[in-house]
Amino acid sequence: MTIMKELHQEHLNLKRLLVMLERKVERFRAGTHPNFQLMSDVVSYVGGYADTHHHPREDRMFAHFKGRSSELDTLMKRCEEEHVQLKQLSTHLNDSIDGILHDAAVVPLDDLIDSLAQFVQHEKAHLDFEEGTLFPKIEAVASSEDWQVIDQALPSPSDPLFGLKQSDEYRTLYQALADDERAS
Ligand SMILES: [Fe+2]
Ligand SMILES: [Fe+2]
Repeated sequence: MTIMKELHQEHLNLKRLLVMLERKVERFRAGTHPNFQLMSDVVSYVGGYADTHHHPREDRMFAHFKGRSSELDTLMKRCEEEHVQLKQLSTHLNDSIDGILHDAAVVPLDDLIDSLAQFVQHEKAHLDFEEGTLFPKIEAVASSEDWQVIDQALPSPSDPLFGLKQSDEYRTLYQALADDERAS
C-alpha cells in the first residue's frame, strides 16, 4: 500500500507547514508585520506541491476506485472538486502576494489576511476530510491487487531526484519558518 503511505506522509508534511503559517497569519492579524517573502515561499510551496504533484496522484487513485459504491463516488467527486477550488485559491493568493512583493498591486492588508486565513483553513479541512473520511472508505473497499495496480501505474515521488529535491526544499522552508518564529 505504498501510495497511501506516501500520501499520508505528504499530509503530515503539509500540515506542519500549514500550522506554522496559521500562527503567522494570526500574528499578522494582531499587527505584526510579516516576512512577505517567506509567506510567499510557503504559500507557493504548499500550493505548488499540492496542485502539481499531490492532488493529481490522488485524482488518479480515485479514478481507479470509481464505480465501487455510490457513497464512495460522491466522496471522491467532492474531493476532486476541492482540488480544483484549492488550486484557484492558491493561484489567487500567490498573485496577491506577488503584487505586494513587486509593488504591482495595492491589496488591502485585511483582504490579504483573510485570503491567507482562508487558504490555510481550506487546505487543512481538505487534509482532514481525506484522512478522517475518504481514505478510510477507500481502504475499506480496496484489495491488495488494487494497491499493486495503483502502485505500478502511478509515478512514485520516491524517484530519488524528485524525492530528494522535495525534501531538501521542505526542510529549508521549515527551518526558515522556525527561525522566523523565534526571531519575531
Ligand atoms: Fe487532496
Ligand atoms: Fe491529500
